[in-house]
Amino acid sequence: MTVKGEVTYLLSKMSVLHKVCDAKDLEPGQGRTFSVGGRSIALFNVDGNFHAIESECTHEGGPLGDGPLRGTRVLCPWHGAEFDVTTGAALSPPADHAVSPFRVVVEAGEVTVELP
Ligand code: FES
Repeated sequence: MTVKGEVTYLLSKMSVLHKVCDAKDLEPGQGRTFSVGGRSIALFNVDGNFHAIESECTHEGGPLGDGPLRGTRVLCPWHGAEFDVTTGAALSPPADHAVSPFRVVVEAGEVTVELP
């Protein structure tokens, strides 16, 4: 009985990998918004390394996946707040708090993200 309860608890805490796209679909220096697992995910290709963050800007909900990417920074297309795509950190106003980052796995040419 205790073991079953512990297994149920662990299963409820597990994350799941969701396919986002093929790696060839997003060129270096580009970002795009994807709907994955019921969430809006902004995926970026920084020199061949993929990073994913929540797409909705913490200021007023601008689509971060549509913003210009400069190195590891994306500019919100609505009012210009900058976010670090590797951590989700807000780097400049008017946004004052981070978006969630997601772990990305690239395997056999497929990009997947880990969602809770
Ligand atoms: S909605 Fe992103 S800076 Fe305002």
